[in-house]
Amino acid sequence: MSKITAAITAVGSYVPDFVMTNKILETLVDTNDEWITTRTGIKERRILKGEGLGTSYLAIKAAEQLLEKQKLDPKEIELIIVATATPDMMVAATAAYVASEIGATNAFAYDLQAACSSFLYGMSTAASYIESGRYKKVLLIGADKMSSIIDYTDRTTCIIFGDGAGAALFEPNNEGLGLQDEYLRSDGVGRNFLKMDAGGSLLPASEETVKNRQHFIYQDGKSVFKFAVTNMADSAAKIMERNNLSHEDVDWLVPHQANKRIIDATSNRMGLEDSKVMMNIQRYGNTTSATLPLLLSDYERQLKKGDNLVFAAFGGGFTWGSIYLKWAYNS
Ligand code: UT7
Repeated sequence: MSKITAAITAVGSYVPDFVMTNKILETLVDTNDEWITTRTGIKERRILKGEGLGTSYLAIKAAEQLLEKQKLDPKEIELIIVATATPDMMVAATAAYVASEIGATNAFAYDLQAACSSFLYGMSTAASYIESGRYKKVLLIGADKMSSIIDYTDRTTCIIFGDGAGAALFEPNNEGLGLQDEYLRSDGVGRNFLKMDAGGSLLPASEETVKNRQHFIYQDGKSVFKFAVTNMADSAAKIMERNNLSHEDVDWLVPHQANKRIIDATSNRMGLEDSKVMMNIQRYGNTTSATLPLLLSDYERQLKKGDNLVFAAFGGGFTWGSIYLKWAYNS
């Protein structure tokens, strides 16, 4: 009997309508379009406006697009994982609400948090359920409303992040397509370089934490940059080496969209020409858990069955890694 592999069989995505351009940011903080473009590659990002709309709103929209495209009955989904660093609430699982709202009444659902590596780690989790034969339809959604934890007076972070969501359906494959290998790592040394101090069990919310702006994301950009460049490139190189993939064998790099310079460093290390590197950071900025599925959705039409994709991500914690996946369909 051939081994069951876990393939991505459909994708969907959603970004909110409001476009926050570099020009708008120039009116909020001491920055300029030229600095943002040359240092990060970002031109604009999407922001979710409107009272009472959290990350679930983005996740539901992305899932609904996938269901509609695939003509999939949500009742067939057995598990929904929402990869997110900005859940609707600290305690009630966002995924449970998303499942109910899209009509996935036969699914169980939970959230997975690993900062910007949430979706990458989620791919490993989703694939494991499929490979084991335990479930046949697992929906992985990467969604973040980063604007809910961004300080729009802090020019070092507010220029980077945006809101968005993407979804991917994992199903069994008997042609050997889908997830082939993974190299995932973490290191707590990174905890203080990229974090949101308050609101967790270590420092619960208080008047003091609000006053000190500790419910916003903090980043020591330079330090994170150094770790990200080294580790994203190293893990992508490692996955190529382990699977005997030359730069010619790799059809696409699917890199976390944190900074164009980090993406370029990773693709250079892999020896890839620009045409093989998925990139949409200029339009969405860093959407944290949504970057990878947003790329898949944007590039879906160019992907061919059998294409070799190398995913790479790096995030707070630190968390990082790389996944080698064979694309399973032509759209
Ligand atoms: O997704 C999770 C992982 N996150 C990352 O991978 C992000 C990693 N870090 C980065 O992408 C970059 O470090 C940043 C984009 C955050 C910053 O770029 P940088 O090239 O590392 O800039 P820097 O922090 O070294 O700052 C350079 C200069 C400083 O001025 P001085 O000290 O040289 O006078 C900053 O004050 O740029 C200044 N600066 C700005 N200037 C205009 C910092 N932010 C801004 C800004 N606009 N928004």
